[in-house]
Amino acid sequence: MRVVSIVGARPQFVKLAPIDHAFAQAGIDHVIIHTGQHYDPLLSDVFFEDLGISAPDVHLGIGSGSHGEQTGAMLQALDRELPALHPDWVLVYGDTNSTAAGALSAVKLHIAVAHLEAGLRSFNRAMPEEINRIVTDHVSDLLLTPTAVGAEHLANEGLADRTVVVGDVMTDVLMHTRDTVGHDDSPLLEELALDDHSFSLATIHRAENTDDPERLRAILHSLGEVPHPVVILAHPRLVAKCAQFNIPLTDGAWGNLRVHPPLAYPDLIKASLHARSIVTDSGGLQKEAFLLRVPCTTVRPQTEWVETVQLGWNVLVEPGQALVNAVSRPTPLEPADEDAHPYGDGHAAERVAHTLLKTAIKRP
Ligand code: UD1
Repeated sequence: MRVVSIVGARPQFVKLAPIDHAFAQAGIDHVIIHTGQHYDPLLSDVFFEDLGISAPDVHLGIGSGSHGEQTGAMLQALDRELPALHPDWVLVYGDTNSTAAGALSAVKLHIAVAHLEAGLRSFNRAMPEEINRIVTDHVSDLLLTPTAVGAEHLANEGLADRTVVVGDVMTDVLMHTRDTVGHDDSPLLEELALDDHSFSLATIHRAENTDDPERLRAILHSLGEVPHPVVILAHPRLVAKCAQFNIPLTDGAWGNLRVHPPLAYPDLIKASLHARSIVTDSGGLQKEAFLLRVPCTTVRPQTEWVETVQLGWNVLVEPGQALVNAVSRPTPLEPADEDAHPYGDGHAAERVAHTLLKTAIKRP
């Protein structure tokens, strides 16, 4: 069987790693198409190197642009590339423009499409990711969902008969990385002269938080007001938006805020294990914080990973004093829910391989 994975943005490379390994084990012929949505080495190449992912077979080199430009260019390129590869399945990941373009191109070429991380919903249709999820779920033939909550959302949209709960592949890679490098020192602490558990680690990159200058300033101001160091790992979108709005993004510009480039995946996990808390608007990092049992503060009105909030490890806040207070809250001394595993057992990718091998889709 041949499966073509379509990926393009940082979180998709993390999800691709356990899939690539599980497909090799299962004897699946795996072809990787990189759309080029993310092209900075720190957002792309280092993930392939660190996580031992096979090099992409096809690189579309699309790059940045408006949603329409980016998605349209991907559709054109995929229409050209996919037929010659003769896939049994196209596999798309998560909720980016690369996901929606991959699913749309494949389904119209009458190629079976599976969506990994199906069924997540924020119920906020202003988010581009929410639109990408809805479109992708409704055109895909097989919906591989990480959680029971995801399966419930799909059932509510009439998609139950295409749904399989497989667990979360990011949990697979997180557990493996924690077990292999989790006990190592974090180079970030030495580089920034930080004591263990004395600082919070922050990432902010969502369009809702970066594209409105007032909101962006309010977030940076609040992070600087936290009474301990907050290290922000500056995503290129954040850097670009600060430059566009003349908002300073340097050490000392915002109280206790320290600015650092993005980290490679193993370094991010090591740094998270040494942080007193995480502040983010990323979906993946909320879940990683939960799995590592590090308190998380999410700067968004909703989350798709509701279990992290229900189990007490994540709080959703708006910029302002609520954000300062949340990031300053103490770490729970006795976590009550060590046994809660809503995201699976670390073997989701094997279930994906098995499900694709046994599912046949008939095309007109
Ligand atoms: C995309 C996804 C988002 C995901 C995020 C992970 C969509 C709609 N959004 O957001 O769901 O959480 O990836 O990181 O697909 N840029 C660079 N170098 C790069 C890539 C981007 O400088 O390698 C800058 C450019 O200014 C670009 C901006 O970042 O315009 C935004 O990039 P884009 O790919 O449009 O979306 P992300 O914000 O990265």
